[in-house]
Amino acid sequence: MRVMVTGGLGFIGSHLVRWILNHQPEVEVINVDSLTYAGNPENLADVKDNPRYRWRRISVSDSLALNTLLDESPVDAIMNLAAESHVDRSIQSGVPFMETNVLGTQVLLEAARSHGVKRFLQVSTDEVYGSLGPDGLFSETSPLAPNSPYSASKASADLLTLAAFHTYRQDIIVTRCSNNYGPYQFPEKLIPLFVTNGLEQKPWPLYGDGLNVRDWLHVEDHVRALWMVLQSGSPGEVYNIGGNNEHTNREIAHALADLMGLPYSIIVPVADRLGHDRRYAIDANKIRRELGWQPEVSWSQGLQDTVAWYRDHRGWWERIKSGTYLQYYRNQYGVL
Ligand SMILES: NC(=O)c1ccc[n+]([C@@H]2O[C@H](COP(=O)([O-])OP(=O)(O)OC[C@H]3O[C@@H](n4cnc5c(N)ncnc54)[C@H](O)[C@@H]3O)[C@@H](O)[C@H]2O)c1
Repeated sequence: MRVMVTGGLGFIGSHLVRWILNHQPEVEVINVDSLTYAGNPENLADVKDNPRYRWRRISVSDSLALNTLLDESPVDAIMNLAAESHVDRSIQSGVPFMETNVLGTQVLLEAARSHGVKRFLQVSTDEVYGSLGPDGLFSETSPLAPNSPYSASKASADLLTLAAFHTYRQDIIVTRCSNNYGPYQFPEKLIPLFVTNGLEQKPWPLYGDGLNVRDWLHVEDHVRALWMVLQSGSPGEVYNIGGNNEHTNREIAHALADLMGLPYSIIVPVADRLGHDRRYAIDANKIRRELGWQPEVSWSQGLQDTVAWYRDHRGWWERIKSGTYLQYYRNQYGVL
């Protein structure tokens, strides 16, 4: 079996590629990643010479390049993780989000269809459901009500993917996962930002009152779920993925400060994110019931291991934070 993973040089994509290579010895992986600021070949340095793995530097919105690749190397399935993924950047400009997240998904769907790709998995997010009050959970049938340019672009991609099922009976599935954490997460996101700032004795900017709630899942649990859905999910269906693990941003800051032996005074409130969603929480009963998936990494262990990973991989995040990784890869691979 050959699988195309898009966005495989990013946070979740790199875990997925490594997980497939380690757990599915018959599967070959083609990683399609255009190497934006969020992509980093170092994330997969340990598998780059694996004969079952190759990376092609192609944008998912480049129809010609994608179709040529599929002509040369047909695949059985596509798992689409390529995305502009940072809400704050989408607030500054939504254009790259539309190009990659919306147009890129449509290009991929059409390429998959014209090449007879058997299954297409669209990796989406709980953010498409909008914001919850203090109670309740998002189920797969909750209405889509995205509030940021990022989540609106992801919701658009979900709708395009579901439309391909209704219009063409194309074998597609959509997954919607809650917030991920773990190694190799770009240090603009909450947990790696705080941990790496803590290791540099820099303040932790906490948005607003710090009471925004997210449902956290370890990235390894997410990628296992994605593989299960690819193997055993039903066509045309949506599967929520989440860990029943809700925390406010302030609770996370306190937990990290405790783990790192830092005073809470390192936390510095800053002006809230524009349109900041208050609470996300996922009802993941469908994937648990139908596919037997459940999270395996406990929050306390996962958080402890994550802090240890950033402590032990200082070079990885220092090269990102200083920008030298971008310069290095641009010199090596050029600007796309
Ligand atoms: N991080 C989370 O907590 C989370 C939660 C739920 C869903 N998701 C979804 O999972 C997916 C992966 O998220 P992530 O956090 O790993 O993102 P990320 O930003 O770490 O990685 C994105 C990757 O996509 C690549 N990419 C961007 N534009 C591309 C293009 N046009 N063509 C090819 N490659 C391109 C980048 O180079 C990068 O390697 C996204 O679709 C995101 O919406 C993320």
